[in-house]
Amino acid sequence: MQAVVLVGGLGTRLRPLTETIPKQLLPVAGVPMIERVLEQLSSHGVDRAILSMGYLPAAFVSAYPDGIIGGVHVSFAIEPVALGTAGAIRFAGRSGSIDETFLAVNGDVMTDLDVTALIAVHRSKGAEATIHLTPVDDPGRYGVVACDAAGLVTSFVEKPEPGSAPSNNINAGTYVLEPSFFDRVPDATTMSVEREVFPRMVHERTLYAVVDASYWIDAGTPRAFLQANTDILDGTRVVPLPGALTGGALVLEGASVSASARVTGSVLGRDVRVGDGASIVDSVVLEGATIGDRASVTDAVIGPGAVIGADATLLGNCLIGACEHVPERARRSGAAKAA
Ligand code: GDD
Ligand code: MG
Repeated sequence: MQAVVLVGGLGTRLRPLTETIPKQLLPVAGVPMIERVLEQLSSHGVDRAILSMGYLPAAFVSAYPDGIIGGVHVSFAIEPVALGTAGAIRFAGRSGSIDETFLAVNGDVMTDLDVTALIAVHRSKGAEATIHLTPVDDPGRYGVVACDAAGLVTSFVEKPEPGSAPSNNINAGTYVLEPSFFDRVPDATTMSVEREVFPRMVHERTLYAVVDASYWIDAGTPRAFLQANTDILDGTRVVPLPGALTGGALVLEGASVSASARVTGSVLGRDVRVGDGASIVDSVVLEGATIGDRASVTDAVIGPGAVIGADATLLGNCLIGACEHVPERARRSGAAKAA
C-alpha cells in the first residue's frame, strides 16, 4: 500500500528549532520523527510513500539521498506553494499516480495504531475515507469528531471554540482514503482536509472513523515533543533505540558527560558535551551541543551545536535553536508557548 506523509508544515510551535530543521527531522529518542512514522507504517504493509513537502524540502532530500526511510521507498513531492493539507495530499497523490486505496498521515504523529485494522474497517464500511480517532482530555487544539454507533462521522470541527467541542475524540491524523478524494480538490488549490474536505464528506455520509486508544502523541509542541521522547525512555512506548539506556538516559555515540554531572530522563545526541556539575533532567540535547559547567537544564530542548553557558538555567519547555549561544548565568523559560 502507498502512503502520503505530510511533512510540509512550518512547525511554528517548535520555533526556533524549526527555523533550520523541519519538524519531522527532529529526533525522537535519537531517531528522526519521519523514520519512526515510516517504520510504523512499514510494519502494516506500506511499501511506498510520498513525502508531501513544502518547507525546507532540501533537508529531507539530503538526509535520505537513497530515498529509503524507515525501510520504505519514498519519493518527494515538493509543492510550489503551501497547498494546505488537502491540496498537499492531492499534489503528492497525483505525483505518485495513486489510483487505489491509500493512506495519508500527519508526519508529526507518533502512534502504535493498528493501521491494518483501520484499513479493514474502511473496506468493510465501503467508506470514502476512514480516520483514526483518539480520546484526549483537552480536545480544543485538534480536529474534534463525533460519530454514530456504526462509526459514521456526524460532525468534524477543526479546533473548535472553547467549550464547543462535540466530543473528546479527536482526529489522530491517520486516514485511509479512496482515490475519489482527489476529485474533491481542484488542481493547484490551497485547501484544508480538516476544514473543507472532511466536513463535506460528513454532509455526504461517506466519512467513517475508528476510535483506538493505542499509544498516540502529536509531537508538534515543545511539551509534546519532550513527552514523545520521555515516553520512550520510561517504557511507556516500546520502540527500537539507537543506543543503550543508562540511568534512564539515552546517551548517543561520542557524547561526553562529566562524572560530576547528573543526567536523567534525557537524550544526549552524538558528540554532546556536558560540563562539571551540570544537571540535565527530562530534556533533549541535540547533536554537538555543549552544556556548560553547573548549568541546569530541565524540560528543555537544546538545538544542535548550541552552547549553554556555565551556571545558566533552562526550564519550562524552553527551546534553544541550532547553534544558539546562551550566556553564562542566563535564565530561559519557555512556559508561555509550551503547550
Ligand atoms: N505538504 C504540506 N503542505 N504539509 C502540511 C501543510 C501544507 O500546506 N500544512 C501542514 N502540513 C503538515 C505538517 O507538517 C504536519 O505533519 C501535518 O501536516 C499536520 O499539520 P500540523 O500543523 O501539525 O497540524 P495540527 O497538529 O495543528 O492539527 C492536525 O493534527 C491533529 C492531530 O495531530 C489536524 O489534522 C487536526 O485535525 C488533528 O487533530
Ligand atoms: Mg501536529
